[in-house]
Amino acid sequence: MGAPGPAVASPAPTERQVTDLIPAPVHATAKADAFRLTPLTVIRAGKGAGDEAAYLRGLLRPATGYPLPVVPMSPGLSTISLDLGQADPRVGDEGYQLDVTKSAVRLRANTSAGLFEGIQSLRQLLPSAIEAKTVQHRSWTIAGGSVLDYPRFAQRGAMLDVARHFFTPAQVKKYIDQIVQYKINTLHLHLSDDQGWRIEIKSWPRLATEGGKTAAYGDPGGYYTQEQYKDIVAYAASRHVMVVPEIDMPGHTNAAQSVYAELNCDGKAVPPRTDIEVGYSSLCIKSPTTYRFVEDVIRELAAITPGKYLGIGGDEAHSTPAADYQAFYEKVAPMVAKYGKTITGWHEIAKVPLPTSAVPQYWDQGGTNADLAAAAKRGNKFVMSPANHAYLDMKYTESTPLGQDWAGLVEVRDAYEWDPAKLVPGVGEKSVQGVEAPLWTETIRTSADIEYMAFPRLAGVAEIGWSPQAARNWDGYRARLAKQAPRWRAQDINFYRSPQIDWK
Ligand code: ACM
Repeated sequence: MGAPGPAVASPAPTERQVTDLIPAPVHATAKADAFRLTPLTVIRAGKGAGDEAAYLRGLLRPATGYPLPVVPMSPGLSTISLDLGQADPRVGDEGYQLDVTKSAVRLRANTSAGLFEGIQSLRQLLPSAIEAKTVQHRSWTIAGGSVLDYPRFAQRGAMLDVARHFFTPAQVKKYIDQIVQYKINTLHLHLSDDQGWRIEIKSWPRLATEGGKTAAYGDPGGYYTQEQYKDIVAYAASRHVMVVPEIDMPGHTNAAQSVYAELNCDGKAVPPRTDIEVGYSSLCIKSPTTYRFVEDVIRELAAITPGKYLGIGGDEAHSTPAADYQAFYEKVAPMVAKYGKTITGWHEIAKVPLPTSAVPQYWDQGGTNADLAAAAKRGNKFVMSPANHAYLDMKYTESTPLGQDWAGLVEVRDAYEWDPAKLVPGVGEKSVQGVEAPLWTETIRTSADIEYMAFPRLAGVAEIGWSPQAARNWDGYRARLAKQAPRWRAQDINFYRSPQIDWK
Protein backbone atom coordinates (compact mmCIF):
# COMPACT_ATOMS: atom_id res chain seq x y z
CA MET A 1 0.00 0.00 0.00
CA GLY A 2 1.30 3.47 -0.79
CA ALA A 3 1.21 6.16 1.84
CA PRO A 4 -1.79 8.47 1.72
CA GLY A 5 -1.23 11.65 -0.21
CA PRO A 6 -0.17 14.85 1.53
CA ALA A 7 -2.93 16.65 3.37
CA VAL A 8 -1.88 20.01 1.97
CA ALA A 9 -2.41 20.27 -1.75
CA SER A 10 0.82 21.00 -3.56
CA PRO A 11 0.54 23.08 -6.73
CA ALA A 12 -0.54 20.99 -9.69
CA PRO A 13 2.52 19.98 -11.68
CA THR A 14 2.77 22.13 -14.78
CA GLU A 15 1.35 20.46 -17.81
CA ARG A 16 4.62 20.94 -19.67
CA GLN A 17 8.22 22.09 -19.21
CA VAL A 18 11.12 23.04 -21.43
CA THR A 19 12.58 19.67 -20.44
CA ASP A 20 9.60 17.89 -22.04
CA LEU A 21 10.38 18.97 -25.58
CA ILE A 22 10.57 16.51 -28.45
CA PRO A 23 13.21 16.45 -29.88
CA ALA A 24 15.06 16.76 -26.56
CA PRO A 25 17.04 20.02 -26.56
CA VAL A 26 20.80 20.22 -26.09
CA HIS A 27 20.45 22.48 -23.04
CA ALA A 28 17.21 23.25 -21.23
CA THR A 29 16.56 24.71 -17.79
CA ALA A 30 13.01 24.89 -16.56
CA LYS A 31 11.89 27.81 -14.42
CA ALA A 32 8.66 28.21 -12.52
CA ASP A 33 7.74 31.62 -13.95
CA ALA A 34 5.57 31.20 -17.00
CA PHE A 35 4.68 33.81 -19.61
CA ARG A 36 1.02 34.62 -19.99
CA LEU A 37 -0.28 35.24 -23.48
CA THR A 38 -3.03 37.88 -23.45
CA PRO A 39 -5.19 39.76 -25.93
CA LEU A 40 -2.58 42.55 -25.65
CA THR A 41 0.48 40.41 -26.44
CA VAL A 42 2.46 41.46 -29.50
CA ILE A 43 4.99 39.61 -31.62
CA ARG A 44 8.03 41.79 -32.20
CA ALA A 45 9.91 40.82 -35.34
CA GLY A 46 13.51 41.96 -35.54
CA LYS A 47 15.07 42.69 -38.91
CA GLY A 48 14.55 39.75 -41.27
CA ALA A 49 12.30 37.86 -38.86
CA GLY A 50 8.98 38.95 -40.40
CA ASP A 51 8.13 35.68 -42.15
CA GLU A 52 8.75 33.62 -39.05
CA ALA A 53 6.75 36.08 -36.95
CA ALA A 54 3.83 35.80 -39.38
CA TYR A 55 4.08 32.00 -39.22
CA LEU A 56 4.04 32.08 -35.41
CA ARG A 57 1.05 34.39 -35.46
CA GLY A 58 -0.71 31.96 -37.79
CA LEU A 59 -0.09 29.15 -35.31
CA LEU A 60 -1.30 31.06 -32.26
CA ARG A 61 -4.32 32.93 -33.55
CA PRO A 62 -6.90 30.21 -34.30
CA ALA A 63 -7.07 28.81 -30.77
CA THR A 64 -6.44 32.02 -28.82
CA GLY A 65 -8.50 34.34 -30.97
CA TYR A 66 -6.02 37.08 -29.93
CA PRO A 67 -4.88 39.68 -32.48
CA LEU A 68 -1.13 39.13 -31.81
CA PRO A 69 0.03 41.85 -34.18
CA VAL A 70 3.52 41.60 -35.65
CA VAL A 71 5.30 44.84 -34.79
CA PRO A 72 8.81 46.20 -35.45
CA MET A 73 9.18 47.65 -31.98
CA SER A 74 7.54 46.63 -28.77
CA PRO A 75 5.71 49.13 -26.60
CA GLY A 76 7.28 47.24 -23.70
CA LEU A 77 4.34 45.15 -22.63
CA SER A 78 3.76 41.45 -23.08
CA THR A 79 6.05 40.71 -26.02
CA ILE A 80 7.25 37.66 -27.88
CA SER A 81 10.45 38.75 -29.64
CA LEU A 82 12.02 37.09 -32.63
CA ASP A 83 15.54 38.21 -33.45
CA LEU A 84 17.94 37.15 -36.15
CA GLY A 85 21.67 37.21 -35.67
CA GLN A 86 21.79 37.69 -31.92
CA ALA A 87 22.14 34.09 -30.85
CA ASP A 88 24.99 32.22 -29.20
CA PRO A 89 27.32 30.99 -31.99
CA ARG A 90 26.85 27.42 -30.78
CA VAL A 91 23.34 27.35 -32.24
CA GLY A 92 24.81 27.31 -35.75
CA ASP A 93 22.62 27.33 -38.84
CA GLU A 94 19.51 25.70 -37.48
CA GLY A 95 19.62 26.10 -33.73
CA TYR A 96 18.04 28.72 -31.52
CA GLN A 97 17.95 30.20 -28.06
CA LEU A 98 14.65 30.56 -26.30
CA ASP A 99 14.12 32.38 -23.03
CA VAL A 100 10.71 32.47 -21.42
CA THR A 101 10.18 34.61 -18.35
CA LYS A 102 7.15 36.07 -16.70
CA SER A 103 7.61 39.33 -18.57
CA ALA A 104 8.77 38.28 -22.03
CA VAL A 105 9.52 35.54 -24.52
CA ARG A 106 12.73 35.97 -26.46
CA LEU A 107 13.63 33.74 -29.38
CA ARG A 108 16.97 34.23 -31.11
CA ALA A 109 18.69 32.43 -33.96
CA ASN A 110 21.34 33.03 -36.58
CA THR A 111 19.01 32.07 -39.44
CA SER A 112 15.32 32.07 -40.21
CA ALA A 113 15.50 28.25 -40.17
CA GLY A 114 16.72 28.47 -36.60
CA LEU A 115 13.84 30.78 -35.67
CA PHE A 116 11.45 28.32 -37.28
CA GLU A 117 12.81 25.42 -35.22
CA GLY A 118 12.62 27.58 -32.10
CA ILE A 119 8.97 28.31 -32.88
CA GLN A 120 8.31 24.56 -32.92
CA SER A 121 9.73 24.39 -29.39
CA LEU A 122 7.75 27.43 -28.28
CA ARG A 123 4.62 25.77 -29.59
CA GLN A 124 5.15 22.73 -27.37
CA LEU A 125 5.43 24.99 -24.30
CA LEU A 126 1.83 26.13 -24.74
CA PRO A 127 -1.18 24.04 -23.68
CA SER A 128 -2.16 21.35 -26.20
CA ALA A 129 -5.34 23.28 -26.92
CA ILE A 130 -3.20 25.79 -28.84
CA GLU A 131 -3.39 23.28 -31.69
CA ALA A 132 -7.17 23.61 -31.95
CA LYS A 133 -8.50 25.24 -35.09
CA THR A 134 -11.24 27.19 -33.30
CA VAL A 135 -11.17 29.63 -30.40
CA GLN A 136 -10.76 27.95 -27.01
CA HIS A 137 -11.80 30.08 -24.06
CA ARG A 138 -9.05 29.49 -21.53
CA SER A 139 -5.77 30.92 -20.28
CA TRP A 140 -2.57 30.55 -22.26
CA THR A 141 0.75 30.21 -20.49
CA ILE A 142 4.12 29.43 -22.04
CA ALA A 143 6.24 27.28 -19.73
CA GLY A 144 9.20 29.22 -18.31
CA GLY A 145 12.87 28.50 -18.77
CA SER A 146 15.81 28.72 -21.11
CA VAL A 147 16.75 26.55 -24.07
CA LEU A 148 19.91 26.56 -26.17
CA ASP A 149 19.47 24.04 -28.90
CA TYR A 150 20.89 22.81 -32.20
CA PRO A 151 20.74 19.60 -34.23
CA ARG A 152 23.06 16.61 -34.13
CA PHE A 153 22.61 16.03 -37.88
CA ALA A 154 21.98 18.49 -40.70
CA GLN A 155 19.38 16.37 -42.46
CA ARG A 156 16.29 15.00 -40.74
CA GLY A 157 13.87 13.60 -43.21
CA ALA A 158 10.62 11.90 -43.92
CA MET A 159 9.82 10.11 -47.18
CA LEU A 160 6.42 9.74 -48.71
CA ASP A 161 5.94 7.15 -51.45
CA VAL A 162 3.39 8.85 -53.70
CA ALA A 163 3.89 6.17 -56.36
CA ARG A 164 2.29 3.07 -54.81
CA HIS A 165 -0.60 5.27 -53.79
CA PHE A 166 -1.04 8.84 -54.90
CA PHE A 167 -1.52 11.65 -52.42
CA THR A 168 -2.82 15.05 -53.49
CA PRO A 169 -0.85 18.28 -53.02
CA ALA A 170 -3.17 19.13 -50.12
CA GLN A 171 -2.36 15.80 -48.45
CA VAL A 172 1.36 16.33 -48.93
CA LYS A 173 1.14 19.83 -47.43
CA LYS A 174 -0.78 18.46 -44.48
CA TYR A 175 1.98 15.93 -43.86
CA ILE A 176 4.61 18.70 -44.14
CA ASP A 177 2.83 20.65 -41.43
CA GLN A 178 2.68 17.57 -39.23
CA ILE A 179 6.34 16.62 -39.57
CA VAL A 180 7.85 20.09 -39.10
CA GLN A 181 6.59 20.08 -35.51
CA TYR A 182 9.44 17.68 -34.75
CA LYS A 183 12.05 19.69 -36.67
CA ILE A 184 12.04 17.47 -39.76
CA ASN A 185 13.65 19.53 -42.52
CA THR A 186 13.62 17.24 -45.56
CA LEU A 187 10.78 15.63 -47.50
CA HIS A 188 11.81 12.92 -49.91
CA LEU A 189 9.12 12.25 -52.51
CA HIS A 190 9.30 8.84 -54.18
CA LEU A 191 7.78 9.96 -57.48
CA SER A 192 7.88 6.85 -59.63
CA ASP A 193 7.64 3.12 -59.26
CA ASP A 194 6.26 0.05 -60.98
CA GLN A 195 2.69 0.95 -60.03
CA GLY A 196 2.62 4.58 -61.16
CA TRP A 197 4.45 7.67 -62.41
CA ARG A 198 3.55 10.84 -60.53
CA ILE A 199 5.33 13.85 -62.03
CA GLU A 200 4.64 15.59 -65.31
CA ILE A 201 7.59 15.34 -67.71
CA LYS A 202 6.83 17.57 -70.68
CA SER A 203 9.17 15.78 -73.09
CA TRP A 204 7.59 12.40 -72.27
CA PRO A 205 4.02 13.45 -71.51
CA ARG A 206 2.43 10.02 -71.30
CA LEU A 207 4.55 9.11 -68.27
CA ALA A 208 2.13 11.13 -66.16
CA THR A 209 -1.05 11.18 -68.20
CA GLU A 210 -1.03 7.42 -68.81
CA GLY A 211 1.56 6.04 -66.38
CA GLY A 212 -0.03 8.08 -63.61
CA LYS A 213 -3.41 6.41 -63.93
CA THR A 214 -2.52 3.29 -61.98
CA ALA A 215 -1.74 2.62 -58.31
CA ALA A 216 -1.25 -0.39 -56.04
CA TYR A 217 -4.14 -2.85 -55.85
CA GLY A 218 -5.89 -1.18 -58.80
CA ASP A 219 -6.67 1.94 -56.77
CA PRO A 220 -7.00 5.32 -58.50
CA GLY A 221 -3.74 7.03 -59.47
CA GLY A 222 -2.88 10.66 -60.11
CA TYR A 223 0.11 12.86 -60.78
CA TYR A 224 1.47 16.31 -60.09
CA THR A 225 1.74 18.81 -62.89
CA GLN A 226 5.04 20.67 -62.77
CA GLU A 227 3.13 23.69 -61.45
CA GLN A 228 1.63 21.62 -58.63
CA TYR A 229 5.01 20.15 -57.80
CA LYS A 230 6.58 23.63 -57.69
CA ASP A 231 3.78 24.73 -55.39
CA ILE A 232 4.48 21.81 -53.02
CA VAL A 233 8.20 22.65 -53.09
CA ALA A 234 7.47 26.32 -52.33
CA TYR A 235 5.13 25.39 -49.49
CA ALA A 236 7.79 23.09 -48.05
CA ALA A 237 10.42 25.83 -48.41
CA SER A 238 8.20 28.26 -46.49
CA ARG A 239 8.50 25.74 -43.65
CA HIS A 240 12.24 25.26 -44.11
CA VAL A 241 11.74 21.82 -45.63
CA MET A 242 13.82 20.81 -48.64
CA VAL A 243 12.05 18.53 -51.10
CA VAL A 244 14.22 15.72 -52.47
CA PRO A 245 12.54 14.24 -55.55
CA GLU A 246 13.31 10.65 -56.50
CA ILE A 247 12.85 8.87 -59.80
CA ASP A 248 13.55 5.21 -59.17
CA MET A 249 15.75 3.42 -61.72
CA PRO A 250 17.01 1.23 -63.33
CA GLY A 251 14.44 -1.02 -61.61
CA HIS A 252 11.00 -0.06 -60.26
CA THR A 253 10.25 1.28 -63.74
CA ASN A 254 7.26 -0.73 -64.93
CA ALA A 255 4.94 2.29 -65.11
CA ALA A 256 7.27 4.07 -67.55
CA GLN A 257 7.87 0.90 -69.56
CA SER A 258 4.17 0.26 -69.81
CA VAL A 259 3.52 3.55 -71.60
CA TYR A 260 6.68 3.94 -73.70
CA ALA A 261 7.44 0.77 -75.68
CA GLU A 262 10.88 2.11 -76.63
CA LEU A 263 12.05 1.84 -73.02
CA ASN A 264 11.96 -1.95 -73.36
CA CYS A 265 14.77 -3.92 -75.02
CA ASP A 266 12.30 -5.76 -77.24
CA GLY A 267 10.49 -2.56 -78.17
CA LYS A 268 7.20 -3.84 -76.75
CA ALA A 269 5.33 -2.07 -73.98
CA VAL A 270 4.84 -4.21 -70.89
CA PRO A 271 1.40 -4.46 -69.27
CA PRO A 272 0.78 -2.03 -66.39
CA ARG A 273 1.08 -3.65 -62.96
CA THR A 274 -0.63 -2.85 -59.72
CA ASP A 275 0.55 -5.77 -57.58
CA ILE A 276 3.29 -5.11 -55.00
CA GLU A 277 6.02 -7.47 -56.16
CA VAL A 278 9.48 -5.89 -56.47
CA GLY A 279 12.60 -6.52 -58.54
CA TYR A 280 11.11 -7.57 -61.87
CA SER A 281 11.48 -4.42 -63.99
CA SER A 282 14.58 -2.89 -65.54
CA LEU A 283 15.24 -0.16 -68.05
CA CYS A 284 17.02 -1.37 -71.20
CA ILE A 285 20.64 -0.68 -70.27
CA LYS A 286 22.17 -0.96 -73.75
CA SER A 287 19.69 1.28 -75.54
CA PRO A 288 20.57 4.93 -76.28
CA THR A 289 16.85 5.73 -75.90
CA THR A 290 17.14 4.88 -72.21
CA TYR A 291 19.73 7.61 -71.69
CA ARG A 292 17.78 10.15 -73.70
CA PHE A 293 14.80 9.36 -71.46
CA VAL A 294 16.77 9.51 -68.23
CA GLU A 295 18.48 12.76 -69.18
CA ASP A 296 15.18 14.38 -70.16
CA VAL A 297 13.66 13.38 -66.84
CA ILE A 298 16.65 14.55 -64.82
CA ARG A 299 16.83 17.86 -66.73
CA GLU A 300 13.14 18.64 -66.24
CA LEU A 301 13.08 17.57 -62.62
CA ALA A 302 16.26 19.49 -61.79
CA ALA A 303 14.77 22.62 -63.33
CA ILE A 304 11.79 22.60 -60.95
CA THR A 305 13.74 21.52 -57.86
CA PRO A 306 15.57 24.29 -55.98
CA GLY A 307 16.97 21.83 -53.41
CA LYS A 308 20.46 20.44 -53.72
CA TYR A 309 19.61 16.79 -54.23
CA LEU A 310 18.10 14.61 -56.88
CA GLY A 311 17.29 11.00 -56.06
CA ILE A 312 18.16 8.43 -58.69
CA GLY A 313 16.85 5.32 -56.98
CA GLY A 314 19.05 2.29 -57.37
CA ASP A 315 17.33 -0.14 -55.01
CA GLU A 316 16.28 -3.70 -55.69
CA ALA A 317 17.47 -3.74 -59.31
CA HIS A 318 17.29 -7.53 -59.25
CA SER A 319 16.57 -7.73 -62.98
CA THR A 320 19.58 -5.61 -63.93
CA PRO A 321 22.82 -7.63 -64.08
CA ALA A 322 25.62 -6.18 -61.94
CA ALA A 323 27.74 -5.10 -64.93
CA ASP A 324 24.73 -3.37 -66.48
CA TYR A 325 23.93 -1.64 -63.20
CA GLN A 326 27.47 -0.29 -63.16
CA ALA A 327 27.31 0.77 -66.82
CA PHE A 328 23.96 2.47 -66.24
CA TYR A 329 25.17 4.63 -63.37
CA GLU A 330 28.44 5.47 -65.11
CA LYS A 331 26.26 7.23 -67.69
CA VAL A 332 23.55 8.55 -65.37
CA ALA A 333 25.61 9.90 -62.46
CA PRO A 334 27.25 12.67 -64.55
CA MET A 335 23.82 13.79 -65.80
CA VAL A 336 22.85 14.78 -62.27
CA ALA A 337 25.91 17.01 -61.98
CA LYS A 338 25.32 18.37 -65.49
CA TYR A 339 21.97 19.78 -64.33
CA GLY A 340 23.43 21.21 -61.16
CA LYS A 341 22.26 18.64 -58.63
CA THR A 342 23.91 16.32 -56.15
CA ILE A 343 23.18 12.60 -56.25
CA THR A 344 21.25 10.79 -53.63
CA GLY A 345 19.92 7.27 -54.00
CA TRP A 346 19.42 4.02 -52.13
CA HIS A 347 22.60 2.57 -50.69
CA GLU A 348 23.06 0.03 -53.49
CA ILE A 349 24.44 2.93 -55.56
CA ALA A 350 27.53 2.83 -53.34
CA LYS A 351 28.54 -0.23 -55.40
CA VAL A 352 29.40 2.05 -58.31
CA PRO A 353 32.03 4.79 -58.40
CA LEU A 354 30.30 7.95 -57.25
CA PRO A 355 31.49 11.47 -56.59
CA THR A 356 32.22 11.98 -52.90
CA SER A 357 29.39 14.52 -52.82
CA ALA A 358 26.85 11.71 -53.43
CA VAL A 359 24.72 10.77 -50.43
CA PRO A 360 23.60 7.14 -50.43
CA GLN A 361 20.64 6.32 -48.24
CA TYR A 362 21.04 3.24 -46.09
CA TRP A 363 17.91 1.10 -45.80
CA ASP A 364 19.31 -2.27 -44.70
CA GLN A 365 19.15 -3.57 -41.13
CA GLY A 366 22.66 -2.88 -39.84
CA GLY A 367 25.93 -4.80 -40.03
CA THR A 368 29.02 -4.93 -42.19
CA ASN A 369 28.83 -3.47 -45.69
CA ALA A 370 32.18 -3.18 -47.47
CA ASP A 371 30.86 -0.86 -50.21
CA LEU A 372 29.50 1.60 -47.67
CA ALA A 373 32.61 1.50 -45.50
CA ALA A 374 34.75 2.14 -48.58
CA ALA A 375 32.54 5.04 -49.70
CA ALA A 376 32.67 6.51 -46.20
CA LYS A 377 36.44 6.27 -46.32
CA ARG A 378 36.44 8.18 -49.60
CA GLY A 379 34.36 10.88 -47.93
CA ASN A 380 30.76 10.13 -48.85
CA LYS A 381 28.11 10.86 -46.26
CA PHE A 382 24.96 8.84 -45.72
CA VAL A 383 21.35 9.21 -44.74
CA MET A 384 20.41 6.42 -42.38
CA SER A 385 16.99 4.80 -42.55
CA PRO A 386 17.39 1.25 -41.28
CA ALA A 387 14.23 -0.59 -42.29
CA ASN A 388 13.93 -2.43 -38.96
CA HIS A 389 13.87 0.88 -37.05
CA ALA A 390 13.00 3.79 -39.34
CA TYR A 391 10.56 2.35 -41.89
CA LEU A 392 7.17 3.77 -41.04
CA ASP A 393 5.41 1.17 -43.18
CA MET A 394 6.42 -1.74 -40.95
CA LYS A 395 3.61 -2.97 -38.73
CA TYR A 396 3.82 -2.12 -35.04
CA THR A 397 2.52 -5.52 -34.01
CA GLU A 398 1.15 -8.55 -35.80
CA SER A 399 -2.33 -7.10 -35.53
CA THR A 400 -1.56 -3.69 -37.07
CA PRO A 401 -4.15 -3.44 -39.86
CA LEU A 402 -1.82 -1.54 -42.22
CA GLY A 403 1.75 -2.02 -43.34
CA GLN A 404 4.20 -4.82 -44.01
CA ASP A 405 6.54 -6.91 -41.87
CA TRP A 406 9.45 -7.97 -44.06
CA ALA A 407 11.86 -6.00 -41.85
CA GLY A 408 10.09 -7.17 -38.69
CA LEU A 409 7.63 -5.49 -36.39
CA VAL A 410 8.62 -1.96 -35.39
CA GLU A 411 7.03 -0.83 -32.13
CA VAL A 412 7.58 2.68 -30.79
CA ARG A 413 10.58 1.55 -28.79
CA ASP A 414 12.21 -0.13 -31.80
CA ALA A 415 11.79 3.08 -33.79
CA TYR A 416 13.52 5.01 -31.00
CA GLU A 417 16.36 2.83 -29.76
CA TRP A 418 19.07 3.02 -32.37
CA ASP A 419 22.07 5.19 -33.10
CA PRO A 420 22.67 6.20 -36.73
CA ALA A 421 26.42 6.26 -36.09
CA LYS A 422 26.50 2.65 -34.85
CA LEU A 423 24.68 0.78 -37.61
CA VAL A 424 27.40 0.03 -40.14
CA PRO A 425 31.07 -0.45 -39.20
CA GLY A 426 33.08 2.31 -40.88
CA VAL A 427 30.06 4.63 -41.13
CA GLY A 428 30.45 6.64 -37.96
CA GLU A 429 29.23 10.01 -36.71
CA LYS A 430 31.22 12.02 -39.25
CA SER A 431 29.87 9.97 -42.16
CA VAL A 432 26.24 10.46 -41.21
CA GLN A 433 24.51 13.38 -42.88
CA GLY A 434 21.21 12.55 -41.31
CA VAL A 435 18.30 10.22 -40.82
CA GLU A 436 15.07 9.59 -42.64
CA ALA A 437 11.80 7.87 -41.81
CA PRO A 438 10.43 6.50 -45.10
CA LEU A 439 6.78 5.64 -45.55
CA TRP A 440 6.14 3.21 -48.38
CA THR A 441 2.50 3.19 -49.30
CA GLU A 442 1.56 -0.19 -50.73
CA THR A 443 -1.09 -0.49 -48.00
CA ILE A 444 -1.48 3.22 -47.22
CA ARG A 445 -4.37 4.99 -48.94
CA THR A 446 -5.46 8.01 -46.88
CA SER A 447 -4.05 10.79 -44.72
CA ALA A 448 -5.44 8.94 -41.70
CA ASP A 449 -3.38 5.91 -42.76
CA ILE A 450 -0.24 8.06 -43.14
CA GLU A 451 -0.77 9.51 -39.67
CA TYR A 452 -1.38 6.13 -38.05
CA MET A 453 1.95 4.79 -39.30
CA ALA A 454 3.94 7.99 -38.74
CA PHE A 455 2.66 8.84 -35.27
CA PRO A 456 4.23 8.22 -32.89
CA ARG A 457 7.26 6.68 -34.63
CA LEU A 458 8.21 9.72 -36.68
CA ALA A 459 8.73 11.76 -33.51
CA GLY A 460 11.30 9.19 -32.36
CA VAL A 461 13.27 9.26 -35.61
CA ALA A 462 13.12 13.07 -35.53
CA GLU A 463 14.62 13.06 -32.04
CA ILE A 464 17.35 10.67 -33.16
CA GLY A 465 18.24 13.14 -35.90
CA TRP A 466 18.20 16.22 -33.71
CA SER A 467 19.11 15.39 -30.12
CA PRO A 468 22.50 14.45 -28.73
CA GLN A 469 22.77 10.68 -28.28
CA ALA A 470 23.67 11.23 -24.62
CA ALA A 471 20.39 13.11 -24.06
CA ARG A 472 18.28 10.18 -25.21
CA ASN A 473 16.93 7.25 -23.27
CA TRP A 474 13.75 5.26 -23.59
CA ASP A 475 12.31 5.94 -20.15
CA GLY A 476 12.67 9.68 -20.51
CA TYR A 477 11.40 9.62 -24.04
CA ARG A 478 8.30 7.57 -23.33
CA ALA A 479 7.28 10.00 -20.58
CA ARG A 480 7.77 12.98 -22.90
CA LEU A 481 6.02 11.23 -25.79
CA ALA A 482 2.95 10.51 -23.65
CA LYS A 483 2.46 14.27 -23.30
CA GLN A 484 2.33 14.74 -27.06
CA ALA A 485 -0.93 12.81 -27.39
CA PRO A 486 -3.23 15.71 -26.43
CA ARG A 487 -1.49 17.82 -29.09
CA TRP A 488 -2.19 15.17 -31.71
CA ARG A 489 -5.80 14.88 -30.62
CA ALA A 490 -6.17 18.66 -30.92
CA GLN A 491 -4.81 18.39 -34.47
CA ASP A 492 -6.99 15.40 -35.35
CA ILE A 493 -3.89 13.29 -35.99
CA ASN A 494 -4.83 9.61 -36.12
CA PHE A 495 -2.04 8.10 -34.02
CA TYR A 496 -1.32 4.55 -32.85
CA ARG A 497 -2.01 4.19 -29.11
CA SER A 498 1.00 1.99 -28.43
CA PRO A 499 0.67 0.04 -25.16
CA GLN A 500 4.36 0.88 -24.56
CA ILE A 501 3.31 4.45 -23.64
CA ASP A 502 1.20 5.65 -20.71
CA TRP A 503 -0.72 8.10 -22.86
CA LYS A 504 -1.98 11.34 -21.37
C1 ACM B 1 13.66 -0.05 -50.43
O1 ACM B 1 13.06 -0.30 -49.38
N1 ACM B 1 13.51 -0.81 -51.48
C2 ACM B 1 14.57 1.08 -50.53
